[in-house]
Amino acid sequence: MRLVLLGPPGAGKGTQAQVLREKLGIPHISTGDMFREAVLQGTPLGKEAQKYMESGQLVPDEVTIGIVRERLSQPDAVGFLLDGFPRTVPQAESLDEFLAASGRPLVAVLSIQVPGQVLVGRLTGRRVCSQCGANYHILNKPPHQAGKCDLCGGDLVQRADDTEETVLKRLEVYEQQTAALVGYYQQRGLVREVNGNQEPQKVLADIGLALGRDWG
Ligand code: AP5
Ligand code: MG
Ligand code: ZN
Repeated sequence: MRLVLLGPPGAGKGTQAQVLREKLGIPHISTGDMFREAVLQGTPLGKEAQKYMESGQLVPDEVTIGIVRERLSQPDAVGFLLDGFPRTVPQAESLDEFLAASGRPLVAVLSIQVPGQVLVGRLTGRRVCSQCGANYHILNKPPHQAGKCDLCGGDLVQRADDTEETVLKRLEVYEQQTAALVGYYQQRGLVREVNGNQEPQKVLADIGLALGRDWG
């Protein structure tokens, strides 16, 4: 299965991807996670990406396209779940070209939509595990023990770009540069609309229906 998860910041792409990767047995490829890892490691890529991420801007296309091509060239990427890529029309065109050349076109694009005012609260309340990356929310999905991950016991932290100011910038950048991709993929007959403004379990069930799988 070769899928793209498309949706604004806070739509629940990462939350759903954590479950989908297990259910579908395909790697979860998140450009945001790859950049955050590079920032943590202090690599040249991380230093470059950090400048953009901190201010809620997109990392330049040539950098982003390069890391995705490299990842999709690895042997486990026969199927994949792309999260946060593509985010611009040039990224989408480059992906189409790359996948066509290796004979593995996209199967579907899951467009997860959530009203803007809901997104701000989701993002400013999000906490992530510093060890395993699991997602939490101070109100919607609190951990059993405050500040600690249920899965691995790691410390929960707030992402540097989840302050209200940067969140608003990211939502603006989404509207300006990424929202048009819904139309781009509609023209190619790939879009499956998913209502992301409901319980995560319901969102997952709707994704299952959209993919023709009844996993409840
Ligand atoms: P990235 O990491 O991709 O961030 P994003 O797209 O802004 O999306 P988020 O990860 O914030 O949201 P999400 O949809 O995954 O939601 P989540 O499941 O966590 O990108 C970060 C930065 O990297 C970019 O700004 C850019 O600088 C750079 N970058 C990345 N990709 C790039 C690219 N292709 N090109 C250029 N630059 C790029 O959920 C959010 C919260 O809501 C959580 O707390 C969760 O618990 C809660 N929640 C989830 N689902 C529900 C639900 N159904 N009901 C209630 N709460 C929910
Ligand atoms: Mg995410
Ligand atoms: Zn953890």
